[in-house]
Amino acid sequence: MVANIAVIGMQWGDEGKGKIIDFLAEKAEVVARFNGGNNAGHTINAGGRKIILHTIPSGILHSKKLNIVGSGVVVDPKVVLDEISKLRKEKIKVGPENLVISEDAHIVLPIHIEEDKKTGGKIGTTGRGIGPAYTDKIARIGIKARDFCNRDIFKKRFGDEQFYDEYEEYASSLREFLANTSLIINEQIDSGKKVLFEGAQGTLLDIDHGTYPYVTSSNTIAGGVCTGLGIGPKKINSVMGVIKAYTTRVGAGPFPTEIFDSYGEKIQKRGNEFGATTGRARRIGWFDALVGRYSARLNGTDSFAITKLDVLSTVDKIKICVGYNYKGSVITEFTNDISVLGKCTPVYEEMDGWWEELSKVKNLDRIPENAKKYLKRVQELLGTPISIVSLGPDREQTIVLKKEFLF
Ligand code: GDP
Ligand code: IMO
Ligand code: MG
Repeated sequence: MVANIAVIGMQWGDEGKGKIIDFLAEKAEVVARFNGGNNAGHTINAGGRKIILHTIPSGILHSKKLNIVGSGVVVDPKVVLDEISKLRKEKIKVGPENLVISEDAHIVLPIHIEEDKKTGGKIGTTGRGIGPAYTDKIARIGIKARDFCNRDIFKKRFGDEQFYDEYEEYASSLREFLANTSLIINEQIDSGKKVLFEGAQGTLLDIDHGTYPYVTSSNTIAGGVCTGLGIGPKKINSVMGVIKAYTTRVGAGPFPTEIFDSYGEKIQKRGNEFGATTGRARRIGWFDALVGRYSARLNGTDSFAITKLDVLSTVDKIKICVGYNYKGSVITEFTNDISVLGKCTPVYEEMDGWWEELSKVKNLDRIPENAKKYLKRVQELLGTPISIVSLGPDREQTIVLKKEFLF
């Protein structure tokens, strides 16, 4: 049993964080986003419907949970209001009683989106204005939600801009959601409420520790929970890494285990690997144990939730990367130096696949021997226990292996 859990992406994003958060949220009381913006796309399949969330935490589908958007998030008011109205159309209750947004969160404005569209191409950004909004924040020329929602301040700063009238209306609608979220979340933790910290993107996209410059503009790792929500490090009780049974990446940048043959196409199709935010095809690669171990180290990961194991059914030979060949020797630690990483070729172990579909399996004893061997080897290589195995996008397609890492 744990008091709270930081749920963090262990690869290049899209590991299935939304699904795992939604699953864990049943027993949580608070779900809080701490980084990124609407570059994120977190998919939740529940009750026969599929919902993709970009800014709003993945606890929103459960009633009576408090969802918090922390100061480390950049908020596009147009997008968040659109998300709220879409959820309401689905009869999901959203109001200031179950959604609060930090007054200190920075706002994404049309100028940021224009800039991203002009300059983000080389990296393959999502084009949502995320980098430029964080740039303004760090340069101390950005606008916080508090000032955006203050009529006088917003007018004084942006009154002459073309977008002013439209955004002044958004500000009026957003105002009721703003709160001192650091105070709220500390009170919630201190009073023993069960809290989920929802990561966006993945460890390899972290601004400091990822494959720079092919990264996003925020701290995606567990350390970002403290700065992005305003809590002390001792208040994070446990860290769960979400990792796919293979690897994907959207956008540019080195990707040693990338697959260019028909295995890649098969996994892409079976895993429906198309972006939840931009619809772009995700690049596919084999499982990379160096990436997993690097991420476990950066996040202090207590356990892993491994997702999409079902996708690997019918792939007859499955590879796992256990090292990189670089200039005639073998490296066994991941490097985020892209001039090295770009020249690494993987050292693979090959395992036999399995043919049975796993999506209806409810007990892991029932999975084929080869799937068991695969999981066992992955766990060994990660050096960290697997607490959850996910065998499909639905809440029900989730198997808990180690309850001690959950609420
Ligand atoms: P996130 O950004 O980490 O929340 O992940 P995304 O939602 O962008 O991408 C994960 C995709 O995989 C979504 O379409 C999920 O519905 C789906 N998914 C999550 N877990 C599983 C799983 O175990 N098996 C399968 N087949 N799909 C899954
Ligand atoms: P979730 O939370 C996958 C990638 C973009 C690009 C790089 C920089 O759904 O896992 P940005 O728009 O952030 O400046 O783009 O980061 N990227 C993601 N890739 N999942 C995400 O979020 C991502 N958010 C950003 O594709 O390569
Ligand atoms: Mg995603």
